[in-house]
Amino acid sequence: MANVTIIGAQWGDEGKGKVVDWLASRADIVVRFQGGHNAGHTLVVGNQTYKLSLLPSGLVRGKLGIIGNGVVIDPVALLAEIERVSAQGLKVTPETLRIADNATLILPLHAALDGAREAARGAKKLGTTGRGIGPAYEDKVARRAVRVCDLAEPDSLSTKLDELLLHHNTLLAGLGAPTFAKDKMLRDLLALAPRLLPFAEPVWERLAVAKRDGERILFEGAQAVMLDVDHGTYPFVTSSNTVAGTAASGSGVGPGAVGRVLGIAKAYCTRVGAGPFPTELFDETGQKLGERGHEFGTVTGRKRRCGWFDAALVRQAVKVGGIDGLALTKLDVLDGFDELKIGVGYSINGEIFRHLPAGAAAQAAAEPIFETMKGWEGSTRGAKSWAQLPAQAIKYIKRVEELVEAPVTLLSTSPERDDTILVSDPFAD
Ligand code: IMP
Repeated sequence: MANVTIIGAQWGDEGKGKVVDWLASRADIVVRFQGGHNAGHTLVVGNQTYKLSLLPSGLVRGKLGIIGNGVVIDPVALLAEIERVSAQGLKVTPETLRIADNATLILPLHAALDGAREAARGAKKLGTTGRGIGPAYEDKVARRAVRVCDLAEPDSLSTKLDELLLHHNTLLAGLGAPTFAKDKMLRDLLALAPRLLPFAEPVWERLAVAKRDGERILFEGAQAVMLDVDHGTYPFVTSSNTVAGTAASGSGVGPGAVGRVLGIAKAYCTRVGAGPFPTELFDETGQKLGERGHEFGTVTGRKRRCGWFDAALVRQAVKVGGIDGLALTKLDVLDGFDELKIGVGYSINGEIFRHLPAGAAAQAAAEPIFETMKGWEGSTRGAKSWAQLPAQAIKYIKRVEELVEAPVTLLSTSPERDDTILVSDPFAD
């Protein structure tokens, strides 16, 4: 049975929520494998609206949710999210949610450091979500992180906190920020332990059983390929790998389990936070895209930067992300434009590139090379089949497919769950 992995193919906020929700209803298990509560999506089910950051979307569909070892977990945020959705009637218990015992925890000092560093950067700030994601991943690779399993070992937790605080308090004091006291941290963590530990287990074992039993697993990516710490627009990236391969290492399964990889891309492009965005629009067209697409961040409420679809960028995401097929979302936002542009490459200091080079200065200097297409008359909103799409809209999709070198296997034509055109089923063998 094929598994499916969903990743973003641009800079995040591509509308993964709707596609994940739609596929989650056909999966047995939904796994988050990277990122933290910097991610966020809104799921509308019946008359309930769920805002999820850390919880795998499948929970809303009554599926087992797993938070893998590759995720960084803020225990306070997680428990608050569980409480919030429970109050809405969703059942989140150790039967419906499992958390990797070897996942890294985000502690209050991580958010404090995230904030203090961004403040110190001033105008050069990265525009992080301020949730402590980067500092928590830094501690993980520096081998001083507190992990879920440490909550069950008070003595070793105490020793770990000594090392952690030596590092962080030195940094925080240097940045002129308040430092943290060990006793309080230890007390707080041990108070959280009985609430968190019932969810903890070696999830790799459960996933191995699921594989044996032929269960369908949906791996739910957060952020997107162009925010990948290796392949994205470094240093304006998040601190985890967001490519599909991470689904394996971030949950404890082999690479074969990743299955079909579905990349999600908007029919145009947006970005929150700082960093290069070659096809960005600063005129009323950009504003129109933002207004029609309701482009405000789910997590931070920040206004998103908007621009034309960058096919060179998505082609790069297809290659490095291992994307087999593309889900194109928000096509209806392009309805009624006389003219549409697609980025097909970059001119950088007089040289032509078909990809975005790795250097930060080159990326900042990248001028988009556009191809212009006629827009379409009529509406694509709510279309449920190709036959309902204007011919010119189909031409646009075909051109996207050619340029990104991947088929569009799913098309989303409105926020409504049913307004989706499925070209091929990612779960099919
Ligand atoms: P961090 O992940 O909070 O460290 O932020 C690093 C960069 O990733 C910033 O530009 C954020 O705006 C961006 N980012 C992080 N999570 C998301 C997301 O879920 N959607 C879009 N951008 C994100």
